[in-house]
Amino acid sequence: MQAAHTHRVAVIGGDGIGPEVLAEALKVVAAAGVPLDTTDYDLGAGRYVRTGDVLPDTTLEELRGFDAILLGAIGPPVGDTTVPPGTLERGLLLRLRFELDLYVNLRPYRGVPGSVADGADFVVVRENTEGAYAGEGGFLRKGTPDEVATQGSVNTRFGAERCARFAFDLARHRPARRLTLVHKTNVLTFAGDLWQRTVREVATDYPEVAHDYNHVDAACIYLVEQPARYDVVVTDNLFGDILTDLAGAVCGGIGFAASANLNPDRTGPSMFEPVHGAAHDIAGTGTANPLAAITSAALMLEHLGEADAAERIHKAVRSYVDETTGPATTQPASTGAAGDAIAERL
Ligand code: IPM
Ligand code: MN
Repeated sequence: MQAAHTHRVAVIGGDGIGPEVLAEALKVVAAAGVPLDTTDYDLGAGRYVRTGDVLPDTTLEELRGFDAILLGAIGPPVGDTTVPPGTLERGLLLRLRFELDLYVNLRPYRGVPGSVADGADFVVVRENTEGAYAGEGGFLRKGTPDEVATQGSVNTRFGAERCARFAFDLARHRPARRLTLVHKTNVLTFAGDLWQRTVREVATDYPEVAHDYNHVDAACIYLVEQPARYDVVVTDNLFGDILTDLAGAVCGGIGFAASANLNPDRTGPSMFEPVHGAAHDIAGTGTANPLAAITSAALMLEHLGEADAAERIHKAVRSYVDETTGPATTQPASTGAAGDAIAERL
């Protein structure tokens, strides 16, 4: 079915390999036959170093008006000291997640052939607006020998519940219909208790979904040793951050890992981005893996109501990956060749 209007998408290429991988993602979307009305936004480390701007209020207001945001990667080169840590993370990425109420960070994984998690197929639903990321805390007597730093974790029933409901809804529509809460209830007895009670209560509305619980440290072992046990994993912001990098590594590399920062209530645009960073060390070499960006774009199309095009891209990515990864493969395709190969399969 044709969508009612051309989707208006804000494109933030960002730094390092960000613009290169997004170019492939946009190439593939065009090949899938979905016209986009794109507007480029120059944001990230480059912009900050040049102008001192991170995310001007006027830009944020403009971004609210789009149907979706596609982001490549932001960040300075490793070792760079011109951008203080947290400037872009808190000022740009987290600000967008919080301001646009992108409360679910959806990260799907499929173990590529030959990877530790070969054959695994699971999704992590990471809470995306609370927890240790909320920015609660501060310093006392900073810079003195008696310095104190606190960094709290904010956990609301509201935040845990809307995330849990999203995860159960997702699990209900997947063949395995299993959900695992990952937390650390044996030590984080307040936040963990709130999460566990919330998940148990929400579960009563989803009798068709089996649910269990893993401590986060144990989940790290299971992800490496028995990744196939997972279907939908729901977890808090910080555990989700760490677990999804591990999931990327065991599933073939972070270059395959896509994400959707979703506002499921659709009170504003959702934002789609690969999980990986700017990788300045390989920028311009044509060796960046564009599959995370391409899959992120497919997640965007799904959200925009273009389910058919999204599914065709997912299928093309799966078949391409099955043919080009695994023990027999020695030479990865270039960034552009990988994008072309996916586009040709559509
Ligand atoms: C991610 C990233 C971000 C996070 C950083 C860049 C703020 O690591 O999307 O996983 O911690 O959420
Ligand atoms: Mn991360």
